[in-house]
Amino acid sequence: MIPDQLHIANNLDDLNRVVINHLAGYFAEAMAAHGGFHLALSGGTTPQSLYQRLSQEPDIARLGWQHCHIYFGDERCVPPDHPDSNFRMADTALFSHISRYRPTIHRIAGELTDPALAARLYAETLQHSLPATEHGPCFDVVLLGLGPDGHVASLFPSSAILHENNKSVAACYVERLARWRISITFPVICHARHVMVLAAGDGKAEIIRQLFETDDIRHLPASRLLTQPNVSWHLDRAACRLLTSPMRPAR
Ligand code: 6PG
Repeated sequence: MIPDQLHIANNLDDLNRVVINHLAGYFAEAMAAHGGFHLALSGGTTPQSLYQRLSQEPDIARLGWQHCHIYFGDERCVPPDHPDSNFRMADTALFSHISRYRPTIHRIAGELTDPALAARLYAETLQHSLPATEHGPCFDVVLLGLGPDGHVASLFPSSAILHENNKSVAACYVERLARWRISITFPVICHARHVMVLAAGDGKAEIIRQLFETDDIRHLPASRLLTQPNVSWHLDRAACRLLTSPMRPAR
């Protein structure tokens, strides 16, 4: 099914522009609500250009970085200087350019040899740092990429943590990648004020077609977000190229 909040951009640059406009609005909303902005970054390659754009004029001024707490939706179980580290990607693209504003960065300790301990420690970080609601720790914004297999964060198909409802952060071994991962769980995603799913490029066209235009999608983790009122989908035209339904241009 096609989600209610769908924004289609002509290309990745336009997509990033629209996403930054939304982030600036969410920042103002959060500052008015509780005097801070709690943002969870996605890993992967899709958001790299977004982070690079946010690190440069004029978009560097769109968010008051000194009021920002920046987290990660997931992390690979590697040291922070490892080429696969989501922290390393975000540090290179963004953090190293905004350090003068002293944002608060909450890194997942992927270097720990005990992934379950790293997950527990990050859950404590969320408990202590995030604004609390009746549903528990609440992000202002969670950015998510979308894997070709329909995973979001490190919530992969058939993963044991897909149905984790008690922990806010969990560790899982991903057979296909032969890698441990640490991820926020669906309750945390579903209780965030805003979730933005970003998908761009031809490589995401098939999964977008499956999610938006086929029925048997319960095995696709991202399918759980299609009906979530707090979730908006931000795609470029390439990711929508297999859709048969009319595409609505981004506002
Ligand atoms: C990660 C991400 C993951 C990513 C998707 C899409 O740690 O890799 O959190 O969920 O967003 O795999 O990745 P790409 O943007 O590279 O296609």
